[in-house]
Amino acid sequence: MADGWSAKNPYMSKITENFILNGEGSRKETRHIVFELGDSGLDYKVGDALGVVAENPPHIVDELIEVQGWNPDAEVTTHKGDRTLREALKKDFEVHLANKKFVQSLTEKVISSGMKISMSIVSRSRNNETWQATEDATTPLRPSVASDDPASQVEAINADAKGIENYLWTRDYIDIMREFDVKYAHEEFLELADRLKPRLYSIASSHDAHPGFVELTVGIVRFEYNGRARGGLCTQFMADEIDTSGAPIGVFMSPTKSFILPEDKETDIIMVGPGTGIAPFRAFMEQRVHDGGTGKNWLFFGDQSAKTEFYYKDEIEQWIDEGHLYKFTTAWSRDQEEKIYVQHRLKEHGAEVWEWFERGAYFYICGDKQYMAKDVHRALIDIAVEHGGMSLDDATHFIEKTMMKEQKRYLRDVY
Ligand SMILES: Cc1cc2nc3c(=O)[nH]c(=O)nc-3n(C[C@H](O)[C@H](O)[C@H](O)COP(=O)(O)OP(=O)(O)OC[C@H]3O[C@@H](n4cnc5c(N)ncnc54)[C@H](O)[C@@H]3O)c2cc1C
Ligand SMILES: NC(=O)c1ccc[n+]([C@@H]2O[C@H](COP(=O)([O-])OP(=O)(O)OC[C@H]3O[C@@H](n4cnc5c(N)ncnc54)[C@H](OP(=O)(O)O)[C@@H]3O)[C@@H](O)[C@H]2O)c1
Repeated sequence: MADGWSAKNPYMSKITENFILNGEGSRKETRHIVFELGDSGLDYKVGDALGVVAENPPHIVDELIEVQGWNPDAEVTTHKGDRTLREALKKDFEVHLANKKFVQSLTEKVISSGMKISMSIVSRSRNNETWQATEDATTPLRPSVASDDPASQVEAINADAKGIENYLWTRDYIDIMREFDVKYAHEEFLELADRLKPRLYSIASSHDAHPGFVELTVGIVRFEYNGRARGGLCTQFMADEIDTSGAPIGVFMSPTKSFILPEDKETDIIMVGPGTGIAPFRAFMEQRVHDGGTGKNWLFFGDQSAKTEFYYKDEIEQWIDEGHLYKFTTAWSRDQEEKIYVQHRLKEHGAEVWEWFERGAYFYICGDKQYMAKDVHRALIDIAVEHGGMSLDDATHFIEKTMMKEQKRYLRDVY
């Protein structure tokens, strides 16, 4: 049955371990979560990702139903079939964050309802000067429009893509429905809401080391606006709704073709994985230990503080003690005045990194795509200039074309 499981037909797994990896006083909540694979026949290799199918938090579903005055038992037909409205809102649509289509639909709603609202306008901007927020960072951003006429407000919000994005950053459906006092028929709302999508997570275990289980390293997304706790759909579901009592959770495998270990077990590897980016490298280390090759392993890891974010410390120390992890380099960003990031450590060790590259080492990076991966990429080019004696153009060509495209030994799993 191994081939039968997919995003549309997930295997209903159970979580057997679910604990916080951070030390006391951390600003983060990063969890180690273990799923059983039972008799699913599911298999995976290191580098693969696990797809997780979450559900919306019950309190959001119930509040939405209440605000709109819907009948939770109304029968509806969705892309998943016939069910009650409550079930559809819990399982089939993303109702924890609002979407653009809904904000755009406000124009007609507000004009046809002729409602008046009052929006106070004060100062603090997020991304541009025409968007302002109130007293503190947890109060929603507002467009700075002189009129409190709802139609003008909606027009200002919908003026451009940035406006909608700013508006949505601090609001969910419930906030918007309350702010404009608008009512939607449930059929109309289901037409506008996005279908619920599974989330992917880099697998943090080797199946050889943990037969029958798959393990993840998950950064829980939580934030607050307007006195209401909010957060990420899937991470909150795994943290708050699914404990180890046996509640079912849908999973499927998302295999990688490219983010794989070198076939030759003699090949050295450099792994750069700050934050949750460490996940696939825990799996890589477990696999390299299991496979028993002679290739050396060098791990760059970092996060805010050694005291609170040293994930998998005992395992890492054991790999070092047993000679499996040849080098371990840390970048604790907030343990001193100035920021120290993994790219700073890479450059400090540039001469040795370059020697490893010359000997054919593979280079892997996992974690934040928006900032970290770009900065690490630039650091690699700088290293090729400084230690490889290349011009900037040649260094860029070497990193981006030779290593990445032709030799396929610069591999990324970034999100
Ligand atoms: C291949 C791949 C591998 C991945 N591996 C991992 C992994 O190993 N570990 C891991 O933790 N994640 C991983 N991710 C990310 C993961 O898939 C999810 O995107 C992440 O967990 C968030 O999902 P969520 O459903 O909890 O949040 P969502 O419901 O998707 O919400 C996230 C959204 O919340 C909004 N948001 C966040 N903070 C704020 C704020 N302060 N104010 C307002 N809005 C905000 C943003 O719009 C953000 O996009 C991976 C992603 C990919 C594609
Ligand atoms: N797509 C999504 O919905 C989603 C959801 C969750 C997470 N993410 C992304 O995944 C990342 C992983 O989150 P995480 O909690 O595991 O770790 P993280 O936020 O990436 O932080 C890990 C370490 O990286 C540092 N860092 C910050 N900016 C950096 C940069 N430009 N270059 C190098 N290092 C940098 C951080 O330092 P400081 O914090 O001290 O600056 C911290 O020490 C997040 O940054 C986020 O962008 C995306």
